[in-house]
Amino acid sequence: MGDALIAPAAIDQYRQLSELVTPCALIDLSLVEKNIARMNASAARAGAPLRPHVKTVKSVELANMMTAGHSGGITVSTLAEARYFGAAGFTDILYAVGIASAKLPEVADLRGQGVDLKIILDSAEAARDVCDWATSQQVSLSVLAEINADDHRGGFDPDDAALLEAARILNRCDFTHFAGVMTHAGGSYDCRSDTELEAMALQERDAVLVSAERLTQAGVACEMISVGSTPTALHAPSLPPVTEIRAGVYPFMDLYQAGLGLCEPEDIALCVLATVIGHKPRLNRLLVDAGALALSKDRGTGAQEIDRGYGLVCGLTGNVQHRLIVETVNQEHGLITSSDQSPLDFAAWPIGSQLRILPNHACMTAAAYDAYLVLGGQGDAVEARWPRCGGWTVA
Ligand SMILES: Cc1ncc(COP(=O)(O)O)c(C=O)c1O
Repeated sequence: MGDALIAPAAIDQYRQLSELVTPCALIDLSLVEKNIARMNASAARAGAPLRPHVKTVKSVELANMMTAGHSGGITVSTLAEARYFGAAGFTDILYAVGIASAKLPEVADLRGQGVDLKIILDSAEAARDVCDWATSQQVSLSVLAEINADDHRGGFDPDDAALLEAARILNRCDFTHFAGVMTHAGGSYDCRSDTELEAMALQERDAVLVSAERLTQAGVACEMISVGSTPTALHAPSLPPVTEIRAGVYPFMDLYQAGLGLCEPEDIALCVLATVIGHKPRLNRLLVDAGALALSKDRGTGAQEIDRGYGLVCGLTGNVQHRLIVETVNQEHGLITSSDQSPLDFAAWPIGSQLRILPNHACMTAAAYDAYLVLGGQGDAVEARWPRCGGWTVA
């Protein structure tokens, strides 16, 4: 073969939906704005600013919308995100995955370039390793302790003696600074009612407040006291002296959030545009060109009251088809059927026609795409193409 084939640049911008090559990720800007306004109102009621988690959106344009009116700080889940958003001018970043020593050179490099990147850990051993590395390299690091609010993931228990030990190690070290405590109540995703969500939001708050109080009494200051998930943020009690809320999935929402009662499918701002590529009347199935890689294999709603398969189908204009779900996925194929076994109206979905699929889990679905195609006011034309970052390392 001779010269490399050249891909056309940004071919999707300004096209009508019907002209798009599928599968692709669409976002409805008016829904994004509505969802962000709702979270902003909830944070204002709770009395703490947002440090939005950008792990779902991974887009500078969306991060700008999420941080507007707040401190400007963001939370990231990878160092690739830290570099991407740092390059876009976000300088106050919390990397909210327990640190592994091999990542410290990248953290130090970003900090050397003016990004106030903070890391987290949850053991005295990790605190010692971080302190030793920072001392050997003569670089300064800022560190928070992760607190366990609900046995969902990592974190020091609020009454763990190792929490004080780790904080003291970090504060005694000339090159590390103990910045405070943070927690994420991932257990909120298992709640089944508003009452349970409210209780979980209190539990999340109290886990960090108890920890911060113990540290303060031991003479260790906590300038950051950080909580957050979308379900708890939308049910937050009065939060001060908590200093910030880290919600992330809320600009998009998804079917799992709808199953938790936090939104309706009609509020979900992210979808995958797909094309009908086959009819299977004998099996009562439609075949589309969006499979596991385009939708993800997340089956989170399978454990909820309404199982949405691998996604819920909408018409081209976004009209939700409440009984049509993606029932099976192969790598590049999805099979759609009716959740109540009623016969499909194949004439309504001709071969070559397009439809939208709402995701079970927005973070997982969005991860398959390099960019969002943004639908504005009219809803049927792409007004912008917003890139997103992916992966873990920066090429
Ligand atoms: C540490 C941390 N903070 C905040 C969030 C944001 O939570 P949500 O996705 O519910 O908005 C997450 C999500 O996984 C997280 O891991």
